[in-house]
Amino acid sequence: MRARAALASAIGAAAALLLLLPGGCAGAMYKVGDLDAWGVPPPSKPDVYKRWAKSIHFALGDSVWFLYPPSQDSVLQVTPQAFAACDISAPLLRIADGNSVFNLTAPGRAYYTSGAPGHCRKGQKLWVDVPMANGTYVQPSSADLAALAPTPGSQAEAPAPEGALSDAAAHASPAAALRADRSAVVSAAALSLLALLIRLIW
Ligand SMILES: *[C@@H]1O[C@H](CO)[C@@H](O)[C@H](O)[C@H]1NC(C)=O
Ligand SMILES: *[C@@H]1O[C@H](CO)[C@@H](O)[C@H](O)[C@H]1NC(C)=O
Repeated sequence: MRARAALASAIGAAAALLLLLPGGCAGAMYKVGDLDAWGVPPPSKPDVYKRWAKSIHFALGDSVWFLYPPSQDSVLQVTPQAFAACDISAPLLRIADGNSVFNLTAPGRAYYTSGAPGHCRKGQKLWVDVPMANGTYVQPSSADLAALAPTPGSQAEAPAPEGALSDAAAHASPAAALRADRSAVVSAAALSLLALLIRLIW
């Protein structure tokens, strides 16, 4: 009985890993932030979402996943202008179910903020850069540059336009390599699980 349960969970894990393999129709799904939930950043980690977004090399077709108590929060995808102004009145897309997946279907920069009043100004917002299918990053548009330029009196901590440009340039070259790495790591993990399965069966 125990062996069968182990076998079943190994099969489940292998299947889950195979689903994550790049090249399939579904991209990788990333849980947003390093916090327990999508919420206002704690004082000890004011830039948690910015750091998190920078730590990941997204690919076209990946998705970002926000988990939070639906009674307390929501997620909005917004324009660069709305992001800069923390204007939550006319989002491009709003999901409030507590388990919200946004698909990265367009190359360029995607902007998200909390839909709870006041949370955006407290730093509960992030943007992610999505490269083209061939891994090349899109140059930030003038709206992107304007959105991240520091504005007097704004709480948004933002890099200067030149910083944003060089960030994009720095991202550009290693993207393909990193993507290949990720694929190799996932494939290796799937293979070792399959090896485990075969051993269990024998
Ligand atoms: C994201 O893609 C999945 C799978 O194709 C789909 O079920 C879901 O509705 C999409 N989500 C949004 C917000 O478009
Ligand atoms: C990727 O595709 C874009 C648009 O089709 C093109 O402009 C760019 O040169 C391509 N980059 C590479 C490295 O092939």
